[in-house]
Amino acid sequence: MNDFVDRLLLQAEQCRLMGSPLTGALLEGAAGDMRAGGVVADLVAPSLDLPAGAVPSLRFAGALHRLVLEGKAPELALHYPSVGGTAHVERVWPAAARACREHLPELQERMTHSVQTNEVGRSAVLFGALGMIPGPVRLLEVGASAGLNLRCDRFAYVTGDLVLGDPSSAVVLEEPWDNEPPVRHDVQVVERRGCDPNPVDPTTADGRLTLTSYVWADQVARLERLRGALDIAARVPATVVQSGALDFLTRELAQGRDDVTTVVWHSVVWQYVDPAERTAVDELLHDVGHSLVRISLEPEPRSYAFRVHATTYPSGRRVHLADALGHGPPVHWTGATIDV
Ligand SMILES: C[S@@+](CC[C@H](N)C(=O)[O-])C[C@H]1O[C@@H](n2cnc3c(N)ncnc32)[C@H](O)[C@@H]1O
Repeated sequence: MNDFVDRLLLQAEQCRLMGSPLTGALLEGAAGDMRAGGVVADLVAPSLDLPAGAVPSLRFAGALHRLVLEGKAPELALHYPSVGGTAHVERVWPAAARACREHLPELQERMTHSVQTNEVGRSAVLFGALGMIPGPVRLLEVGASAGLNLRCDRFAYVTGDLVLGDPSSAVVLEEPWDNEPPVRHDVQVVERRGCDPNPVDPTTADGRLTLTSYVWADQVARLERLRGALDIAARVPATVVQSGALDFLTRELAQGRDDVTTVVWHSVVWQYVDPAERTAVDELLHDVGHSLVRISLEPEPRSYAFRVHATTYPSGRRVHLADALGHGPPVHWTGATIDV
């Protein structure tokens, strides 16, 4: 139990550092409540054995946010900017504790669901990289979640006086790059397919609620991007199949296509794929025999640095394309280019 309190406090600190004082206050309040044997001790009792990687603290924050989004906790909602409230970090916990008492079995059930996010800002990386590839692209995303980034060409990217992508888009990324990508072709995505072992359907009310609930409620810009992308997903189809990376790529890459460039993209996925599957995917891409490009945005091991790489096959030549933050912007291009 002390372990769980420590995890709540550590995650509270991380949330504050990552720009969510509201989630920080909620998790700190929950830690104090649990230490005092309050409702949180009962709420998390069935979840005490969850591994740290399952981020039970964020499951808890997401479960509370879901109640608010569903209109089931009106007093708590007053503190949630995601529904028009004002984040009073010093006063939020008592309202949250009352919501926990009123909805205990429901919150316990939600704690059994894994955290599932889809970060639209990462399209700033993907779109900039796709702009280095001439001609039409077949986009295959591994670990796509709800597949929102498969629609990256339908978002607007404002850079100086220019608007790239779709200027009429509900998703607007303002100055997502802190320098110019070295090459800029028109981005033409002609096929959008992805996989995820735990896909979310962004066209259903439940899928939209799930994705929204895991965005921290005081991060209004992220919520706006997400809501815009959910609207676009309802109009622009993309397929996300329930599958791991290796099975999906084995099926999709069985036949090459000469008329398009095949791009395999993944962002903040590799750490969740087991090492044997990672190696098998690396080998598959090398051995597949037809040309393709892999673009990745992944954290460097044991650091907070997020690097963008592009690897072209069959040569296997890998370049460091850019550096970014975990949620995408600002992206800094290194000047390396993708040779297709
Ligand atoms: C942090 S989320 C990132 C989602 C999305 N790529 C994004 O950037 O918003 C990690 C995703 O990897 C997926 N994942 C976990 N294991 C996987 C595997 N073996 N193959 C493919 N995806 C996997 C998870 O289900 C989850 O959707």
